[in-house]
Amino acid sequence: MTGTWASAMLSARDLAQVSRGTPAGEWFRRYWMAVGRRDDLRDLPVRVRILGEDLVLFRDGEGRLGLLGLHCPHRGTSLEYGDVGPAGLRCPYHGWLFDVGGACLEQPAEPPGSVFHEKVRHLSYPVRELGGLIFGYLGPPELEPPLPRYAPLAESGGQRRIEAARHYDYNWYNFIENGADPAHFSTLHLSDPDDGTWRSWFFNARDVPPFDAVETEYGMKVVSHKPAPEPGMSYVDEKSYALPSVMQIGDTEFTHFKEPREALARGSGNAHWMFITPDDDDHFTLYTVDHYTGPDPDFMTRLAPSRRPVAAVQKPEHDRRPLSPFRGSVRLEDIMTQSTQGKVADRAERLAASDKGIILQRRIILNAIEQVRRGLRPKGVAAPEDAGRLMRMDSFTGIRPYPPKIDAGAGG
Ligand code: FES
Ligand SMILES: [Fe+2]
Repeated sequence: MTGTWASAMLSARDLAQVSRGTPAGEWFRRYWMAVGRRDDLRDLPVRVRILGEDLVLFRDGEGRLGLLGLHCPHRGTSLEYGDVGPAGLRCPYHGWLFDVGGACLEQPAEPPGSVFHEKVRHLSYPVRELGGLIFGYLGPPELEPPLPRYAPLAESGGQRRIEAARHYDYNWYNFIENGADPAHFSTLHLSDPDDGTWRSWFFNARDVPPFDAVETEYGMKVVSHKPAPEPGMSYVDEKSYALPSVMQIGDTEFTHFKEPREALARGSGNAHWMFITPDDDDHFTLYTVDHYTGPDPDFMTRLAPSRRPVAAVQKPEHDRRPLSPFRGSVRLEDIMTQSTQGKVADRAERLAASDKGIILQRRIILNAIEQVRRGLRPKGVAAPEDAGRLMRMDSFTGIRPYPPKIDAGAGG
């Protein structure tokens, strides 16, 4: 990769820019990105904005998925209003027809025998579907990697739910770094200290649990811990981040927010993954997948209340703050804090010891960006030989030895 940034020193300030030609933008273009849900893609095209590009997602009459430039190459009309047919997507203005690969198949108003359509190629990107989520790849064609087989999407069995896409109007990185920051759980998401739940007991501001930030093959994890009564055991809470923008927070919304401490013994059996796709520098879209493999047929129903973005408190009449009320809804609490930070490039920051997760995450991402700059395959991009491998991330809530015991056979 060459370009204006090839020799520049990069810092976290560069992470907010995702358009083509920027360091983070070119890095993102090396991974498959979530671009839609199967359930939202029926007989109409769907407009999407990915990494600063306006595109249209559709499924043709033969079931093939297409991701094309939004504006017709003829005279610019939005293909969001086009007609889906067996062979592709037809522009509503003059009827030019495009297949999922961007080839122009027909130009009804051109003279008979015209071959001009053969000279027109529209912008198109590869698309794949996995477990109900649709992914697009916007990078160099010759470097297209296999789509990772993300476990909660690729595994059969259990109950799977993909929430409606959520759209936010702030920078993608503000959201992602929140997951590497377990210190905030004990303050921002503080619940009633006397409600007897794991959440109020484990994450509370009077006794903030220490945590470790650990680099992994796929990215990193943060592991919070407190001593358990059993010798050598700890209460442990572990969450993961995979490059470029995937998070696994596992049991959190089941165990922390709803259940008593005893629930730890059985765990939730739920994998809770989030796929974050930057629309542009100021907007991102969030796709959330739950995959439950436990015995409760009503698990998703029981989970639902913790996902409702409804504050637990009313705001007084004199409270004119636009993001109030927020307390009592984990989602609203997160949105309030993240959307008011400003981009990392514009912030004045004083990072403390408890920001070590964020510091590690920034280093991992900047290293990956540097790998792209040097023409290498960045961390988290699957190698061709890994195509069939299930992609998992560590996530745990419960009691186990901590620090983990070293396997006696591992070191020889
Ligand atoms: S603008 Fe699309 S066919 Fe003319
Ligand atoms: Fe949070």
